[in-house]
Amino acid sequence: MDYKEKTVWITGAASGIGRALAVEYAKKQATVILSDRDKENLQATVKECEKLGTKAVYAPFDLAKADEIEKAVNDVLKIYPKINILISNGGISQRSYAIETPVEIDRKIFEINFFGAVTLTKALLPALIADGGGHISVTSSMTGKFGFPLRTAYCASKHAVQGYFEALRAELYDKNVKVTIVSPGRVYTNISINAIDKDGKAHGILDPGQTKGISAEKCARKIMKAIERNKKELWVGGSEILMIYIRKYMSPLFHVLARKINPT
Ligand SMILES: NC(=O)c1ccc[n+]([C@@H]2O[C@H](COP(=O)([O-])OP(=O)(O)OC[C@H]3O[C@@H](n4cnc5c(N)ncnc54)[C@H](OP(=O)(O)O)[C@@H]3O)[C@@H](O)[C@H]2O)c1
Repeated sequence: MDYKEKTVWITGAASGIGRALAVEYAKKQATVILSDRDKENLQATVKECEKLGTKAVYAPFDLAKADEIEKAVNDVLKIYPKINILISNGGISQRSYAIETPVEIDRKIFEINFFGAVTLTKALLPALIADGGGHISVTSSMTGKFGFPLRTAYCASKHAVQGYFEALRAELYDKNVKVTIVSPGRVYTNISINAIDKDGKAHGILDPGQTKGISAEKCARKIMKAIERNKKELWVGGSEILMIYIRKYMSPLFHVLARKINPT
């Protein structure tokens, strides 16, 4: 696909999968609009993309703050009215047991992972439709397909993403807006370090399981290909993806594994 005339908006672009996506699209000379709340690392991604010779736009916001998202969309659309691809990828994980986690923390996770993606999508949709269509990719998780310990609110928020964007796909069929739902397994990023605990503080640990994940670059290339091919779903990772099949076709085994496998 020729990306030179395309504009791609990516959230979570300061780190991990989002950053790798920004670089992959920049290599193809797409214009990239880059968002995250981590302004310093977001600037670094912008510079990296510019070095690759493409236009990169710094558009920071906090996914938990609807007013910041809406302002960023208004500001960007004034200069770049045509967005071809939105990749709603920014998110936060969890490392705490439900029994010790205040509901405020559950809400915070939903605010970022679910309502953040929904708010950005709603803000951009009229422009996508007015322009004749576009593509929305949203990053859920393998744990948006089943439940796994230490991540109750995270799993729930990622299940919510699956339901919302599947329904949205059907609604937007006639408007030529396509939807790809991405469910990664383990990807070697800072996700466990940035995950929040029962107090809302960063877990701060690179979990051993995370280091066994595929690279963010490999994940990004697969996401790019899935969008290009208009895949409705992408399950991306290593052998852990088998858990989705086990949950679906061998659920008694799944329920044993879910409580026995080390969740970190
Ligand atoms: N890595 C995996 O194994 C894995 C597996 C399944 C799904 N995922 C999903 O993949 C997506 C990308 O994660 P990743 O692995 O690349 O992790 P990451 O390296 O931690 O990147 C996530 C990015 O999202 C940003 N973010 C978090 N909260 C935000 C907020 N309130 N507003 C704006 N930006 C915010 C983070 O900023 P801060 O650094 O400031 O927090 C970070 O830059 C997430 O949706 C995650 O749930 C990842």
